[in-house]
Amino acid sequence: MEKKTFYITTPIYYPSDKLHIGHSYTTVAADAISRYKRLRGYDVMFLTGTDEHGQKIQRKAEAKGVTPKQYVDEIVAGIKELWKLMKITNDRFIRTTDKEHESAVQKIFKKLYDNGDIYKSEYEGWYCTPCESFWTKTQLKEDKCPDCGREVELTKEESYFFKLSKYQDRLIRHIEENPEFIQPVSRQNEMLNNFLRPGLEDLCVSRTTFNWGVPVTFDDKHVVYVWIDALSNYITALGYLSEDDSAYRRYWPADVHLVGKEIVRFHTIIWPAMLMALGEPLPKQVFGHGWLLLEGGKMSKSVGNVVDPVILINKYGLDAIRYFLLREVPFGSDGVFSNEALFQRMNSDLANDLGNLLSRTVAMIDKYFGGVLPEQQVEGEFDNELKAVYAQLPQKVEELMDKLQFSTALAEIWRAISRTNKYIDETMPWVLAKSEENKPRLAAVMYNLAESLRIVSILIQPFMPETPEKIWQQLGLTGSGALDWESAKQWGGYPRGTSVQKGDVIFPRIDIKKELEALEAMSPVQKKEPSDQQGSEKVQITIDDFAKLDLRAAKVLEAEKVEGSDKLLKLKVELGGEVRQVVSGIAKHYTPESLVGKTVILVANLKPVKLRGIESQGMILAASNDDTLVVATLDGPIDSGSKVS
Ligand code: ME8
Ligand code: MG
Repeated sequence: MEKKTFYITTPIYYPSDKLHIGHSYTTVAADAISRYKRLRGYDVMFLTGTDEHGQKIQRKAEAKGVTPKQYVDEIVAGIKELWKLMKITNDRFIRTTDKEHESAVQKIFKKLYDNGDIYKSEYEGWYCTPCESFWTKTQLKEDKCPDCGREVELTKEESYFFKLSKYQDRLIRHIEENPEFIQPVSRQNEMLNNFLRPGLEDLCVSRTTFNWGVPVTFDDKHVVYVWIDALSNYITALGYLSEDDSAYRRYWPADVHLVGKEIVRFHTIIWPAMLMALGEPLPKQVFGHGWLLLEGGKMSKSVGNVVDPVILINKYGLDAIRYFLLREVPFGSDGVFSNEALFQRMNSDLANDLGNLLSRTVAMIDKYFGGVLPEQQVEGEFDNELKAVYAQLPQKVEELMDKLQFSTALAEIWRAISRTNKYIDETMPWVLAKSEENKPRLAAVMYNLAESLRIVSILIQPFMPETPEKIWQQLGLTGSGALDWESAKQWGGYPRGTSVQKGDVIFPRIDIKKELEALEAMSPVQKKEPSDQQGSEKVQITIDDFAKLDLRAAKVLEAEKVEGSDKLLKLKVELGGEVRQVVSGIAKHYTPESLVGKTVILVANLKPVKLRGIESQGMILAASNDDTLVVATLDGPIDSGSKVS
């Protein structure tokens, strides 16, 4: 029988000098799904890679005095090393500088041009001559170049455009008719309401002001600009429009494109429109996951926490890091990354729950039975309850994994682990061990523990590449036929007569305080000096005093009540590319739902404070008198992050 195929992709990464743990998030998730599908018998194609063209790269290379290719080669080598360290099982790695990709992009561009979907026109923008950069009006800082602060002028540049607007109605229909296409659903509404229904503009797809890009074959002062080059990777990697397109015919359309939420728009509007124009089928799903944030804001500006994945993996082990990434935050939502939360999970879920279960089980089988369980075993109280949990577990995990619900899938597995630990307390093996006549009962209890661990070890394989083998060694299962995915669905697979092997503790407990101090020493916190605030009389201020306030348009992404408080709401707001957490005393006046989607005004440079233990990174403005309060909102189309003055 022909194997079923499964094609999954991550975005292609911009080569950036320092990869942080957030970058590995999409890739670890894609790897878990790939491993899971392979275990279920699929022929998987897992693609990742790097997005290497553009003016930014060209500039950085110039600044370093190397060619753009030399510049990216070094960084890409580092990215590949990281994926190796994280045991990422991608089947292909595409670079947009690969010759095959470049020539396929040229063919795609030409095909779109020949079909009339790309046409030549003029791009209007604000041009900074020294930087050779175009900016849109909203990108400017106080009407000056956001990079260098110098004057800009309104200029026109000859450009090719893609007829995105032509596909608006078909895209809306496709999204409405295929509810699985954009996941989670909230992102679907965002695309429809914020972008598609208001109307699409044609997209500028070539540039003449720099040359680090794929040349347009029929007009060589142009290079292909960003999205046509980048998005095409998903099909050029499979040989689309090349001599050998067998992989394309086998794997396309993709089953899922995993992407961070900030690029959902490109993947659900530009990309499907391109495919429609090419006459190719659309991917089955685009899944937009949330961001890993640091308590202090953006991950890239790390303060206090160590976010270098290499350091974390070398110190705490790959499986602990992968487990944490997939367990801590529901896939789809934003979450805060902290070293402390990582350590807590390591101690409770990994060392206490799973690690202890294994070492206790092996130690008891060793102590009571010399390492091998006898044939004679007697079932008893509590057994059926335990077995019932495991009878449902594999199906539950499959259903959740099919929906990319990693965190809930792991929570289900850990619920079973906890149930097994409780079974030890219930059956009290140390009491049974006291009398010879209870030995057959004790043997059955031990068998059930080993069997629970066998099932767990099979189900955690997608998430943890190293731990299952360690469990198998200790349980004596290595090389046995009792380890394929389907065997987890049948209780009783632990082979009789197997001999266990005491081994090292698989997840040592760590001293959280000590580790936090050690990490803090590696990443010095930038402590801000407390500034002296004084004077309570009403004073007049100058425009310079006012200019000290950094007021910004901030879009409310999420809002929820703060537990135990009837006044406070916790908000996640977006400022340009950054997400802030703000705690605000408005719960008596606003329901959380009513705030989501509003653009509010944030005092962005307010010193962070903790309210009820929750950090607030700024304050939102509101007008109030005795019992009324109204939040100041901006009700026009303004990008989040824009300055308010
Ligand atoms: O966007 N938390 O590349 P990129 C979660 N080249 N995910 C994060 C993250 C964080 N803190 N930081 C980054 C690009 N990511 C384009 C894509 S695809 C045709 C072109 C994720 O290097 C981010 O959301 O900026 C994205 O999914 C991926 O890393 C690559 O981001
Ligand atoms: Mg990005």
